[in-house]
Amino acid sequence: MPAFFVTGTDTGVGKTRVSCAFIHALRQAGHARVVGMKPVAAGCDWVETGGEGGGAAGGHWLNEDVAALRTASSLRVPPVFDNPYALPDPLSPHLAAQRVGESIDLSHIEASFHALRQHADAVVVEGAGGFIVPLSMSPEWATSADLAQRLALPIVLVVGIRLGCLNHALLTQEAILSRRLRFAGWVANHVDPDMAAQDDNVATLRARLQAPLLGRLAWSPQADSAELARDLVLPTLRA
Ligand SMILES: Nc1ncnc2c1ncn2[C@@H]1O[C@H](COP(=O)(O)OP(=O)(O)O)[C@@H](O)[C@H]1O
Ligand SMILES: [Mg+2]
Repeated sequence: MPAFFVTGTDTGVGKTRVSCAFIHALRQAGHARVVGMKPVAAGCDWVETGGEGGGAAGGHWLNEDVAALRTASSLRVPPVFDNPYALPDPLSPHLAAQRVGESIDLSHIEASFHALRQHADAVVVEGAGGFIVPLSMSPEWATSADLAQRLALPIVLVVGIRLGCLNHALLTQEAILSRRLRFAGWVANHVDPDMAAQDDNVATLRARLQAPLLGRLAWSPQADSAELARDLVLPTLRA
């Protein structure tokens, strides 16, 4: 079953946009039940539910990445499967968890992922922040990279093409390869319309990254995931 982990050179580089486009690419490739997963989301809004017609009032925390992934997905699952940690504050995950007296447990995420896999034909997992963002400091030090390793998923790297991206992309590649994870591909996302020498930056990355370029997404304030999917090639995943 196709499943991969989307990481980025930083936060705000287009992981969600690219993950949604990959979900559509998988759907267009004929996979019926395609679902996005955001294991840890930090920064949520409180959404009121119920309370009408005499029902019990309640609500839940909803993160905008999670909402976008759900919109792109063709399978709806219980929130515990596609977003086991919805943390209110927009902080590094380990700090956002601390604020609500929680600690992020990779085993819990792993259990959710395996449950999700039972229901889906393909899963796209969006990491939080950059590749080595801390998820927990105690009882154990764990990062997003540890999570990818625990889930044994190939990595797709979104490079936000802006000044500094060569350093960030090359550092991330070192982190992926040093963990012996499969580097399945990367996407050049043109997030800065004013950046100089964009093509030369992409050419430099093509020469130095040891994974195929899966697509280049142009700068555009609006995004239609189904359309963007046509600009992406799906990564080749080992069985
Ligand atoms: N190619 C692009 N052109 C213009 N804006 C973009 C592009 N890709 C992403 N963005 C915008 O940048 C912001 C961050 O993108 P997002 O996908 O949420 O990044 P991440 O998931 O890495 O934090 C969003 O407002 C998004 O609409
Ligand atoms: Mg995101």
